[in-house]
Amino acid sequence: MAIKNHSWMGEPAVSVPVRRAVIADAEELARIRQLSLTCPTEPWTTPRGLPDGPWTKDCREAFAALLGDNDTFAAFVVDAAPGRLAAGAVGLLLPRLPGPDSSKPFNGEINAVATDPRFRRCGYGRAVVGALMDWMVSRDCHRISLTSSSEGEPLYASLGFVEGDPRMIWQIR
Ligand SMILES: CC(C)(COP(=O)(O)OP(=O)(O)OC[C@H]1O[C@@H](n2cnc3c(N)ncnc32)[C@H](O)[C@@H]1OP(=O)(O)O)[C@@H](O)C(=O)NCCC(=O)NCCS
Repeated sequence: MAIKNHSWMGEPAVSVPVRRAVIADAEELARIRQLSLTCPTEPWTTPRGLPDGPWTKDCREAFAALLGDNDTFAAFVVDAAPGRLAAGAVGLLLPRLPGPDSSKPFNGEINAVATDPRFRRCGYGRAVVGALMDWMVSRDCHRISLTSSSEGEPLYASLGFVEGDPRMIWQIR
């Protein structure tokens, strides 16, 4: 799914305290990423109910590194309690070359969007993705893309995302 024009339509119905993640959030963000991979239905095909594994430690370390001094990475989160996140969304800015349609310097990629099951349908998913979109637009992104789970589709569609062009992918295993 991709979005070319920012279509965030005003403020959310309820005010959600979203903040930008810091290095101390790395461990919780890895848990949120794990949650983001657990949507049980198509189109994703990997096993659900993901157990911990070496990749979870790698993920914590990757977040700790990315959340340092890095102006092409951001994560936005909602707190559940001190040291515990209720929701999060992660975004990367990918450099792009100027083209006839735009000279903007980045495309944005959204990843690892999830809300802890106890906090779903409170507007947290919408709030963290919206904050990430605002940040990407402020950084002069040409377009924002993501791979949606079926559970995420209504949220992204309501934010203006549409099915994008098919891409060819060569998967390195
Ligand atoms: C998808 C997900 C992030 C939504 O988080 P959330 O905090 O519950 O979302 P919100 O409360 O902000 O809801 C936003 C919109 O999403 C849609 N939505 C959310 N949950 C839904 C559900 N169970 N059924 C139908 N629509 C749903 C609705 O359009 C909703 O807007 P509304 O409340 O105004 O009707 C959450 O369900 C989740 O973590 N799922 C598992 C992981 C996943 O699939 N992540 C997406 C990866 S791309």
